[in-house]
Formats: sequence, C-alpha cells, structure tokens
Amino acid sequence: MQSMLKIFSGNANRPLAEEIARYLKRPLGQAEVRDFADGETWVKINENIRGHDVFIIQSTNSPARNIMELLIMLDAIRRASPRRITALVPYFGYARQDRKDQPRVPITAKLMANLITTAGTDRLLTMDLHSAQIQGFFDIPFDHLFASPVFVDFVKTTFPRDVVVVAPDIGSVKMARAYATRLEVPLALIDKRRTRHDEIDVMNVIGDVDGKNVVIFDDIISTGGTLVKAAHALRERGAQEIMACITHAVLADSVFDKLNNSDISALAVTNTIHQDSARIAARSNKIHILSVARILGEAIHRIHQEESLSSLFI
Ligand code: R5P
Repeated sequence: MQSMLKIFSGNANRPLAEEIARYLKRPLGQAEVRDFADGETWVKINENIRGHDVFIIQSTNSPARNIMELLIMLDAIRRASPRRITALVPYFGYARQDRKDQPRVPITAKLMANLITTAGTDRLLTMDLHSAQIQGFFDIPFDHLFASPVFVDFVKTTFPRDVVVVAPDIGSVKMARAYATRLEVPLALIDKRRTRHDEIDVMNVIGDVDGKNVVIFDDIISTGGTLVKAAHALRERGAQEIMACITHAVLADSVFDKLNNSDISALAVTNTIHQDSARIAARSNKIHILSVARILGEAIHRIHQEESLSSLFI
C-alpha cells in the first residue's frame, strides 16, 4: 500500500510552499514553527505522520534561522515515525563555499550537507545548485532540478530571434551551454577575474555578440557585481538588448541601484527565495519574478509516485 503524502513548510518561503500545495491540490501539513522569547526555534507537528511520505519545504538563504528551522523540523518529523522524509530545499544556501581554495577556510556546503543528513532527511531535492558536485557531499538520494522550463519560455516570448546566450563566468558555462542548446542559439562567455572579496573585474568576452540580443544565465545574483560588469563588457562588444535569467535572487540591498543604472533591460529571477514583490517593484521595474512552483510540485508528485524526474526537463 502506498503511504500518504504530507507536505510541511518552514517560514523561509511559505508563499512558494502554498503555491506548491495548490498545484498538488493538498493542504500544507499542520505544524507550528515559532520562536521562544530568547530567539530559539520551537517546532510542533500537529498531526499524525506515522508511516507517511513527508516533504518539508525550506530554502536555506540567510538569516541562519532558516537553516535551524529546517534542522529542527527534520528532527521533529523524524521522531514522529514517517516512512520517508524528503527535504525540498529550493535554494541551497552556502553552496558557493564548496571547496578549500585557500588555507584555513571551511567547506561550508559540506557542513550543510552533514547537518541536513544528520537531522534525519532520507533524500534531498533542490534546484540549480551552484555546482553539481555538491551532490557528492550527500550519501543519500539527491534529485537536482532545473528552472530551465520557466526561463526558456520567458526568453522565447521576450526575444524571438538573434539571441546569444552568455555565461558570465567559467563556472556557469555548463548551465549556459545547456540553455544555448535548448534555445538553439550560439554561446559566448566572459572570462571574469575576481580582484578582491565580492569585487569583480570583467576581463574578456569570448564569442560574437555584436548586434545580438543577449541573455546572461547564472545561478545566483547577490550584489549584482557579476551581472552588471558582464553587461557592460557585452555592450562594449556591440550587444543590443541585454537580459538576464538568474535562478536564485539573494538580492543584497545595493543591487537595485546597480541594476537600474546598468545596461541590463530585464532581469528574470525565480521565487526559490521569497521575494516581496511590492518592495521589488518599488525599487526596480526591471525585475520579473517567475514561479517554479509547478516544477517543484510536479517533482514531489513524481517522487511520491516513484516516477522518473528526468522526463520533466526533456
Ligand atoms: C558565482 O560564481 C555565482 O555563480 C554568481 O555569479 C555570483 O555569486 C553572483 O554574485 P554577485 O551578484 O554578488 O556578483
């Protein structure tokens, strides 16, 4: 007999969890996730989940309480005897700290993997990981989803022709190449050199963008430095309209002015991280928020039914 599906959400991105629940035509599970007066997180699962197939939705962007909520919810759920627990982490935070590239620095992405696994999840589901190798930090089943269906539709509607896909740095070439293949357009890339912590100098555009509509694909936008400098370099090489599709909008405060004064005409991001759309609209009219709820909801449905996930992206 198949176990019952239950979906719980932490507080990091409840609107996305509610949208996923609507797609699946199921209510979100009853759980209280609150703070004690001293700031410690307290969780109570308010319904029976013994023997159930449980999903918990929580992105692990800053603040760190999002991570604590995920870990504590996993612990509470694990102790309530479900058949299986899947952590759906739409944005896997700390992924950029995935290797020891200088002396005496942490590999925080691996620490996150250890914490999430130890807390009790049986499998992990996430989207557009900063680097695919992070899957190897986990010794449990790991499903890596892509926001590509929503971005491909967006680009096709916005720029029907003369498009070149651009990777803003070497790390995003694989992702950009996949988009170029899907859109059946050429690929260019930017050789980016990081000069100081969080400051970037664009050095060189490799490929022909002269007279073309350009779409930059990346996994994260934070300060906007990478994007704005890439756009500037592309404009100098003769690019016409310049648009960007970036999955995870971490959006530091400084990003809005930079974006408004940049060569970028539109930035599409997803809702893997909760965005206050009124706040965003007030600060920039260039940002479009696209929902990935259908992809995540369909992934939950297929995992629950033990069906293939790869066919979601064909
Ligand atoms: C870097 O490797 C990432 O893929 C992003 O390009 C980077 O994290 C974006 O950060 P920012 O917006 O601060 O330049």
